[in-house]
Amino acid sequence: MRVTVVDDEMFATAAATALLEALPSAAPTLGVATGETPMRVYAELGCRSRRGEVDLSGARVIALDEYVGLDAGDPHSYTAYVRTRIADPLGIPSANVHVPQGDSADPAAAAEVFEQRIADVGGVDVQIAGIGSNGHLAFNEPGSALDSTTRVVELSQQTRHDNARFFGGRVEEVPRQAITQGLATIGRARSILLLAAGRAKADALAAALRGPVAPGVPASVLQRHGDVTVIADRAAWGRMA
Ligand code: F6R
Repeated sequence: MRVTVVDDEMFATAAATALLEALPSAAPTLGVATGETPMRVYAELGCRSRRGEVDLSGARVIALDEYVGLDAGDPHSYTAYVRTRIADPLGIPSANVHVPQGDSADPAAAAEVFEQRIADVGGVDVQIAGIGSNGHLAFNEPGSALDSTTRVVELSQQTRHDNARFFGGRVEEVPRQAITQGLATIGRARSILLLAAGRAKADALAAALRGPVAPGVPASVLQRHGDVTVIADRAAWGRMA
């Protein structure tokens, strides 16, 4: 496991550089986390793309997860996030963007379709991941099986509370379910870039990287992966230092 700890203002630059270095080709399959942490990394990639320094227009993008029950057009959906913050700024055509279909009438079937889709495109080259304050990885909440695959999950109260900031602070508007790639699914990515920023992640990060590999801390499964790079700011690294 490679670790880079940076001052907060260098976080986006360090993460974008690490990502670009990890890409195997100009047309990689990029697994993307949503949420707050990677936003500035995607913005940095968008800047580099506009300046002509990088060209990711040939990339394929695969999301980790999606809320169940939001329309794909809903601005809170991860479908909208991936389109507006990643695909459009990087010039990636919509045919190369894959997000679980959270508005499907049959979310369980949509989850199976998504698991198969990842296999059909040959898997993920580099997976960008974040970590929840409760140690979740994608929406694999504490208690998730280490060999889980893409499926419908119930979001924990803590996750709904944490994510209420994206819903105007209204926890009751945060969906109760999501489709998430499983821990085994994520583990099949050839390389993983784990991003952690802020003090709220310090306990979870330490438990994930130092504690036992166990369902209680889903991100601990990353210890079993042979190619993980961690980019953390000093606050998130606080319990490791
Ligand atoms: C989102 C995802 C989540 C987030 C995690 C951290 O696609 O998979 O696991 O990475 O909840 O979110 P932020 O970055 O908002 O703190």
